[in-house]
Order: sequence, then C-alpha cells, then structure tokens
Amino acid sequence: MIRFILNEKTIATDLPPGMVMLDFIRYHQHLTGTKIGCREGDCGACTILVGEIANGEMHYQSMTSCLMPIGNAAGKHIVSIEGINFADSLNPIQQAMADEGATQCGFCTPGFVMSLAGYCLSNNDATVISSIDGNICRCTGYKPIERATEKIASIMKERTLRQAQYEDAITYATRKKILPEYFSTIKEKLVLIRREALQNQSSELKNFLVGGGTDLYVQQHATITNADIRFVFDHPELNGISKEGNRCILGSSVTVSDLKVSPIINEAFPDFQQVAKLISSTPIRNMATIAGNFINASPIGDFTIFFLALDAQLILSDGNSKRELPLRKLYKGYKALDKKPEEHIEQIWFELPEKNHYFHFEKVSKRTHLDIASVNSAIHLKMTGDSIEQANLSAGGVGPVPMFLQKTSDFLRGKKISDEIITEVIEIMKTEISPISDARGSKEYKILLLGQLIKAHFLNADF
Ligand SMILES: Cc1cc2nc3c(=O)[nH]c(=O)nc-3n(C[C@H](O)[C@H](O)[C@H](O)COP(=O)(O)OP(=O)(O)OC[C@H]3O[C@@H](n4cnc5c(N)ncnc54)[C@H](O)[C@@H]3O)c2cc1C
Ligand code: FES
Ligand code: FES
Repeated sequence: MIRFILNEKTIATDLPPGMVMLDFIRYHQHLTGTKIGCREGDCGACTILVGEIANGEMHYQSMTSCLMPIGNAAGKHIVSIEGINFADSLNPIQQAMADEGATQCGFCTPGFVMSLAGYCLSNNDATVISSIDGNICRCTGYKPIERATEKIASIMKERTLRQAQYEDAITYATRKKILPEYFSTIKEKLVLIRREALQNQSSELKNFLVGGGTDLYVQQHATITNADIRFVFDHPELNGISKEGNRCILGSSVTVSDLKVSPIINEAFPDFQQVAKLISSTPIRNMATIAGNFINASPIGDFTIFFLALDAQLILSDGNSKRELPLRKLYKGYKALDKKPEEHIEQIWFELPEKNHYFHFEKVSKRTHLDIASVNSAIHLKMTGDSIEQANLSAGGVGPVPMFLQKTSDFLRGKKISDEIITEVIEIMKTEISPISDARGSKEYKILLLGQLIKAHFLNADF
C-alpha cells in the first residue's frame, strides 16, 4: 500500500508504484484540472506541489506529475490545482492571472498557477519569475503572465520584508487567504502517514531503481509503469549533504534543488546559483538526483561533468558489501558502466575546493535555458602561487561518455597560465576527444566550441 494525502483526502492505494501521479490524479481520482501536455517534463502543464516534513516543518516544491511515480509520493502531501481552490471565489493567484489577461486557451494555466502557489509556499528566496521557469504557454506571449507574477510578488512582499522571521509561508498563505485553511492541518496528519511509509520501505533488489524519475520516465515510461521498482528517492539514509573535514558527502537522493539551498555548496561554489539556472527547470531540479545524472550516463550530463572535474568518488553498495569507485572510472563505453546491476550509489563524496583552488563550469546549448548542452566543460585547478599544482578538466558532448580529459589535465600540471599554454592545451584536448555530428552541432563545431570553453575557463580565473 502507498499512503499519502492528495489535497485534503488520505489515499491508500495498491496500484503499481511506477504509475505516474498525473495518471493517478486524472484517471483514478478524476481530478482533470491537471493537464497533460508533453509527458516529458518540458511544458509544465501537469505541475503539482509535493509537500513533505523536513526538519520538523512542511516544505513544498513544484514537480511535474508526468514524471513522478506514485511510489515517490509515500508519506507526502500531493496538491493538484483542485487543492488550492476556494469554494466561492478565485484565490489571489488565479485572480491575478484573470485580471491581467494571462490566460487565453487556458491549457497551461493550472500549471502556472501551481508553480506560483509553490512560490507562495516557499521559505527560500527564489524569485517569482524563476518559479515559472518550467512552464510554457503557447498563447499569451508571456507579458500578461509576467504582470500577473508581479502582482503575486507584491502580495508576498509584505511577508518577505516584515513577517518571514516569525511566520512561516504556510501560516502566511492561509491567513492571507492565498491558499485554503486546510494546509495548516496537513503536517499533523502527515506525521503518522510518513511513519508508516518509512516502515514499508523495501530495500530488496528489484528490476528498476528509480531516483526522481526525470530520465527514466522520459526514456522508458511504458516499461516502468508496471515494473518491480525500488525507490531510492526518499530513503532517510540516502538523504542529506554533510561535511567531514574537507570532504563533502552527498546522499544518493540529493537533488539539484538540495544543492542549490545547501550552505556548504554555496560557500564552496560562489557561482552555483548561475550554474543551476542553466540546468533544466525548477520542477525538474526539485526531482532530479545527482546519482541519477551519473547513472543515466548521458555524454552531456551537466552534473556528471561538474563532478568529474571535482574527481568525485562513488560509494557503491549491493546491499551486503560496499566499494569505492572514482566517478571517472564509472564509464566504460556508451551507456556501459563499471557497476553491477545489483549495485546502487549510496553516497558521493568529493574534496571541497579550498582558497588556492579555482573551479569553473561552462555550458553551451542551442537555447540558454531548459535545454541540454551541445558541449559543456568544468575545470578544477589547485594552484601553488601562480603555478598549477593539479588540474582536472572534464568535457561533455565530445565523445561517447562524459569525459575526464586526463592527458590535457596532466599537461597543465606545473604550468603557469599564458596565451601560449592555452593554445597548447587546446591542441592536446583535440587529441583526446571524438565528437560526432548530430542535432546539437557538427563535429567541427563541437571541437571549436570546447576550445572556446577552455579559453572561457581561464578568462574567468582570478589568478
Ligand atoms: C525537462 C527536462 C530537462 C532536463 N534538463 C537537464 C539538463 O539541463 N542537464 C542535465 O544534465 N540533465 C537534464 N535532464 C535529465 C535529468 O533530469 C537528470 O539526468 C537527472 O539528474 C536524473 O536524475 P533522476 O533522479 O531523475 O534519475 P532517474 O530517472 O530516477 O534515474 C536515472 C538512472 O539512474 C539510475 N539511478 C537513480 N538513482 C540511482 C542510485 N542511487 N544508484 C544507482 N542507480 C540510480 C536509475 O535506475 C536510472 O537508470 C532533464 C530532464 C528533463 C525531463
Ligand atoms: S505534461 Fe508536460 S511537463 Fe508534464
Ligand atoms: S493560455 Fe493557451 S497555452 Fe497558455
């Protein structure tokens, strides 16, 4: 049985855990306000809110229900558009959308409203515009939607300035009648359901291991829906970002959004917010795990490239024994991994960059946001004075696997940066890569692009 709360209703279902929440909501609960657009996480028409208890508080995030298995809802509060309606009036988010002419055919509107409700419930300092970065509208031209978001931001401003210190987002949103009163009763109900959900978690080996599902459901939706699934998304032992000495340790269910709000990550990587903005959208970042990015083994996986340059290490477990493997040794060929089917990533660790270190990530895609990379690259340099003591350079989109450029990295060791050295670095890089021409660019373009990204790494360096 999977137990969770859907809007105000407690659900206990024995439907397949791999069924996506979108189908459960529409076809089993007959709540048709949540729309089906792309079923690939791109359009945002199916956006829902997912609330869970974290550090004793309710914490809501927007997610795309087309990619979320109901198994990942265990012990949580799922909110569809029907769950934020008032019986006799529009809520202020809906009213702002209507007043500003921000809805025409209306197909995308529930998704926008849910993302904006997520903004109103959020205790972090995300901007109102960034909360709708996963929603696409075909009709309005976006300006009316932007005006509606400004109205919502101004409603929330009062809390941000004066009240956030003593009133959490849920209390504020219910008191201001932005969201229905029942939201304030959910935490109490969820405590019991969450306990049962954790007790029921299985660690047996099953056919499929699912993280956030943002790769699996795009690639193998039909297969997974009825498959025997093991979930790693919410296992308490796999959550969390911690620091031991100079090591940063990530549980394998850490998502991109978890990294975004982590003080450890933000201190070590001052540009992290800009990097994260280049990767997918808010709802996808709320679901996408770093471990899932590694195992999906896409040659252009952004976080794979990021962590390759940090020489991240994986702790793999088969349930009985564990072993440590450098991320750069995981990839044996296109989608071929040094990992047994029964093994999963339990932890990821890497050494945090120190004061004499330089780290930089670059990504170029056809569209700046919500697009996969044509080529991406990261560099991590350990400096002694103005000489490079150690270099790690990674690159994606230039071979069958995400690449750690060993030869180029070795060449950089002991060097002082100059225009001549950078020219030599680019020539050595060319001997290590084997890009192919595809929809993201020709082979020649990708070679040229990686050269430019290497220049960008050094142009951005402050030594
Ligand atoms: C709209 C959209 C935009 C996207 N944009 C980007 C982007 O800009 N950049 C980018 O890099 N990616 C992007 N992605 C891809 C995807 O979001 C990421 O690769 C994500 O990190 C995958 O994580 P997940 O938890 O969802 O993986 P899942 O889909 O759950 O799993 C992926 C694979 O990893 C395995 N797996 C998961 N967890 C573990 C574990 N702990 N141990 C062993 N195996 C495991 C699964 O079995 C599966 O084989 C996008 C996806 C979508 C839908
Ligand atoms: S249906 Fe398009 S994101 Fe889910
Ligand atoms: S109003 Fe028609 S898609 Fe947005």
